[in-house]
Amino acid sequence: MRVRLLDLSEQYRALSEEIRAATDEVLSTQRFILGPKLAEFEKAVEAYCGSPHAIGVSSGTDALLAVLMALEIGLGDAVITTAYSFFATGGCIARVGATPVFIDIDPATYNVSAPALRRYLEKFCHSVEGKLVNENRQTIVALVPAHLFGLCCDMNEMLAIAREHNLILIEDAAQAIGAEFPLENGSAKAGTMGDAGCFSFYPSKNLGAAGDAGLVVCRNEQFAERLRLCRHHGMGAQYRHEFIGGNFRLDEIQAAILKVKLPHLDSWSAARREVAKFYTGEFRRVGLDKKIQLPVEPYAQPGLTNHHIYHQYAIRSERRDALRQYLAEREIETAIYYPLALHEQPCFEYLGYKPGDFPEAERAARETLALPIYPEIPRESQQYVVNCIAQFFS
Ligand SMILES: Cc1ncc(COP(=O)(O)O)c(C=O)c1O
Repeated sequence: MRVRLLDLSEQYRALSEEIRAATDEVLSTQRFILGPKLAEFEKAVEAYCGSPHAIGVSSGTDALLAVLMALEIGLGDAVITTAYSFFATGGCIARVGATPVFIDIDPATYNVSAPALRRYLEKFCHSVEGKLVNENRQTIVALVPAHLFGLCCDMNEMLAIAREHNLILIEDAAQAIGAEFPLENGSAKAGTMGDAGCFSFYPSKNLGAAGDAGLVVCRNEQFAERLRLCRHHGMGAQYRHEFIGGNFRLDEIQAAILKVKLPHLDSWSAARREVAKFYTGEFRRVGLDKKIQLPVEPYAQPGLTNHHIYHQYAIRSERRDALRQYLAEREIETAIYYPLALHEQPCFEYLGYKPGDFPEAERAARETLALPIYPEIPRESQQYVVNCIAQFFS
């Protein structure tokens, strides 16, 4: 039986008429850039996330980049982030000329470890004239945690640390739109807890466009306005550029498609949670939870529906590569997110990190394996995946 890692054809079949009508409407108006569909989609995301401002941009990468550029973060600045994420999380920091400072992860959640972050701040940073300066005399200006695989970071801790050290908090929520976190003063959605939240609508995301797309949410109206300029080359009045931005615009066709899909996001995420529940239940039933590490659900509690949106269902095993090969031979697609930790990327060699600097991120890169998950995956396919993994370990 062939099992795809992700198959969006069922989703498209269900919505194809609406999607075609929405794209036809854009084509018939011939309004492709910064038009009404974008404004409608932004309003819909504001309502969905409970955020006062949403600014559509061209990708999740550009969401991060636009935020960093709009904040004028650059040379001489350092930005703290996780050692284990998609490349863009660290890459964007470097692209604006700032230095990424990596922090190790929590081995159960794969998100940045708050204790490790506190240890770094205590050991290597000190305050100079109200600024937080690190061992390389760079000013630490911001903190960019990523909510990996659809599970939020410990945002109570991230907010507390950002407040204590006066850091700008930028959430990389590319994989986590709709995921909720139990803040001390009530639950909140991914992206809305810090100063800015960045989403990706890459086609494979829980909410996926028909190409590249992204979005930023924020609370501050002036910052939202600055981001709107930033995505349009910093242009205020026609051809008057207030600051250097880029072409980070989200086009009308993508916005129209995303607007059709957004009302279904919660049911898709709920279906993914059901898929995850089945995997976890079956793995436990056959005793595989002693041999592989399963995803954790630290925020599963009454009143918090989207405590995990399972963008990925990642297991881990020291025999990951052999297991992957075994599954591939049985036509089961899997993926490795990500085979290298960020400090192990060749392009970040100049940062001077060494093997062993972030042992948990390195171990995750060697051991995690993402299993097939999407809302419509048939139960038989899932059962086959579980059976094959059980055979491998028998
Ligand atoms: C954690 C994370 N950050 C940033 C991005 C970048 O998003 P995009 O691919 O839309 O540029 C992604 C996308 O894969 C991601 O997973």
